[in-house]
Amino acid sequence: MSKNRPTLRLLKNKESQFADADKKKIYEMAVRSILKTLDLKDNYTYGHSLRVAQNCLILADFMGMDEEEMYDLELSALFHDIGKIGIPDRVLSKPHRLTEDEFEIMKRHPELSYEILKDFEGFERIAINARHHHERYDGRGYPDKLSGSDIPLFSRIILIADTFDAITSSRVYSEGKDISIAYDEILSNAGTQFDPVLAKNFVAAMKKHRSQSEEKTYITLVKDIQEKLKDAA
Ligand SMILES: [Fe+2]
Repeated sequence: MSKNRPTLRLLKNKESQFADADKKKIYEMAVRSILKTLDLKDNYTYGHSLRVAQNCLILADFMGMDEEEMYDLELSALFHDIGKIGIPDRVLSKPHRLTEDEFEIMKRHPELSYEILKDFEGFERIAINARHHHERYDGRGYPDKLSGSDIPLFSRIILIADTFDAITSSRVYSEGKDISIAYDEILSNAGTQFDPVLAKNFVAAMKKHRSQSEEKTYITLVKDIQEKLKDAA
């Protein structure tokens, strides 16, 4: 099992939703148990879900979303592919291109995510967001062929973060591609597959986040060198 654990940091600030501390604890344990189940079923999808959630939050922060919205988006992203639990391993873990029939089976996972989540109290919106994360902006996606702003906002965001991760992450049978390829892919499909405004914002948010992280690494590096020089003097 992966050592990665979701932080679920936003759950900690959600006091008002829970009648008492015990209920909150049980709720958090349930969330972690469901994610652990996904990890055992398919470690790649578990890691993918954590990265998608992280990148969704980078966009949310860039767009100035509030805590409540970020809480819903984080959980929607963490659970978007939970329906893959119901996809047979021969399809889910196939190291080659899926046949048409296998792809039809794989396409059931957003509806299965919805089925798993919809009766979980407080998860109604998260279930809907997960159901629609493969709808395309031009209406040619699945399962319900929604288009434009009929697709829930968070589903539109998850699709972009999902595509970014699918391109940049490595699988057993393929190396992840450079992030510039992912940016190009997202921008060239803005308006057809992706919401054009969100696609542009996502690329801008990721670039800003990466340059800030690089700057931080650079500052740490300079500090380290200065410390070493001081020690050597
Ligand atoms: Fe998916």
